[in-house]
Amino acid sequence: MNILEIRNKLSTNVIGRRIEYYKLTSSTMDEAENLIKTGCPEGTVVIADEQYRGRGRRRKEWFSPRGNNIYLSVVLFPEHLSIKYGSLIMFMGSIAMVKTLSEYGICAKIKWPNDCMVDGKKIGGVLMETTGEGEFIKNIVLGMGINVNQDSFPLSLKDSAISVLMKTKYKVDRAEMVVRLLYCLEELYLSLEKRGREKILDLWKKYSDTIGKRVVVDMGDRTVEGKAKDIDKYGFLLVETGRGLEKIACRETLRYI
Ligand code: BTN
Repeated sequence: MNILEIRNKLSTNVIGRRIEYYKLTSSTMDEAENLIKTGCPEGTVVIADEQYRGRGRRRKEWFSPRGNNIYLSVVLFPEHLSIKYGSLIMFMGSIAMVKTLSEYGICAKIKWPNDCMVDGKKIGGVLMETTGEGEFIKNIVLGMGINVNQDSFPLSLKDSAISVLMKTKYKVDRAEMVVRLLYCLEELYLSLEKRGREKILDLWKKYSDTIGKRVVVDMGDRTVEGKAKDIDKYGFLLVETGRGLEKIACRETLRYI
């Protein structure tokens, strides 16, 4: 990926203040964590061309072969954000992704909590790792992976994954896409600092295809089944069941029925 192009074209103030690029790394999440330990500015972005231990939510592996896709992590220090609103940062990632993909003619939707879906298949995902202090979040690493110029997937992912190339038949300039993604992210992040929590929640609802669907959530010790009605101000999914409204946290995943 052309990192110089990213540095030259990026017109953001916070996100991308520092950009670190790795041809190969275990995971951009690991690199971002290390950079936080050594003291990096907020908005530091770590990009890799390939990851040998790319990770997704729920300890799943994230398919990260060389040369075709976007793997990046952003370091955020949202000093004034209470941990209660942490999910909103994660929502920001998927909203920025959907907005960016729309600029390439792709109409992606968000499946709870953060899967970017096209034609029922996953085109991108968001992973958030935090360390908190008391009520306030200290450090956040927001990881984003987008399947861009991948022309095929291994058998195990074939039915559940899709890429920009597979959808549009065009290869895209990944550096250009990163610039657009980081720009969208910065816009959302700065609005969040200006108490723009409502805006994030509204955009998530606008782009989500989960609200209104019947869902099943495996909560480990029990399953919740019902209709996804809304999200509350902290980003919990509200599911209407026979026993009343259930609140589903961001760490849970669900199936449509
Ligand atoms: C998910 O949908 O489960 C989240 C996937 C997140 C993948 C990205 S790729 C860049 C960053 N580094 C990782 O190891 N994971 C995230």
